[in-house]
Amino acid sequence: MDVTYNFSNRVVLITGGTGAFGRTLVKKFIDSGARTISSYLNEKEAVKLKTANHKVELIKLDITKEEQILKVIPLLVERFGTIDVLVNLVGGYLGGKNITELGENDWDAMMGLNLKSAFLISKHVISVMKSGKGGNVVHISSRTGLKSDGYDSAYAASKAGLIRFVESTSQEFKENNINVNCILPTTIDTEANRRAMPNADFNKWLLKEDLANVVLFLCSPDSKVINGAAIPTYGLS
Ligand SMILES: NC(=O)c1ccc[n+]([C@@H]2O[C@H](COP(=O)([O-])OP(=O)(O)OC[C@H]3O[C@@H](n4cnc5c(N)ncnc54)[C@H](OP(=O)(O)O)[C@@H]3O)[C@@H](O)[C@H]2O)c1
Repeated sequence: MDVTYNFSNRVVLITGGTGAFGRTLVKKFIDSGARTISSYLNEKEAVKLKTANHKVELIKLDITKEEQILKVIPLLVERFGTIDVLVNLVGGYLGGKNITELGENDWDAMMGLNLKSAFLISKHVISVMKSGKGGNVVHISSRTGLKSDGYDSAYAASKAGLIRFVESTSQEFKENNINVNCILPTTIDTEANRRAMPNADFNKWLLKEDLANVVLFLCSPDSKVINGAAIPTYGLS
């Protein structure tokens, strides 16, 4: 049975909504009635997202840069009144190198993209939620954040750090009616992954639609007793 959620009048900020999973999630929130804002970096991807979903509001923002967040969040609050939901999809993968091959720049890039980004955007959006009615925050970690098979130390460490970050943050704002959780996907069935792993069994991969359903649940009142969780979303793998 399909569960449908009603996010009418709720303001949802999706960072990285122009990405592979983001495009599905943006559509799902729009279809559920949310006023949906997506951040982007790449202009071409932003145009594609707007063409597919006319109702999405786009904002250019590099969430690894606090000075940009400090400018953008007040503009969003002025325009939309508040931010009820933050889904932070910004992240990236680096694999295939053991630590003797891994550069300092590789390490810093993973920590910036997967961990510092989560800290900076949470800090400034939760400030807004705190002064309102509360809200829901969802980050995307990875199963690799719990268990690594090697050759991805920077990625694994950054996604592991994100799980503890979520746990800590969730305790800090529970009195403010703010829930902070993350999901732990395995490989998502995206075009980029199909190109990178053409011989894999795609049937074992996660469907974006299924993952989006979990995120909507975590942003809905139905999940109000879930706070600080790292939800396994492994599909068949
Ligand atoms: N794909 C998988 O199999 C998989 C598995 C486990 C976990 N995850 C996690 O799930 C999340 C989404 O994955 P995905 O495959 O959809 O990723 P993706 O297609 O690579 O999309 C990444 C998104 O992040 C944006 N972005 C990158 N750097 C940014 C920055 N500094 N500031 C703001 N936005 C930035 C990109 O914007 P532009 O497009 O505009 O550049 C894009 O919208 C990530 O956190 C990823 O680590 C993915």
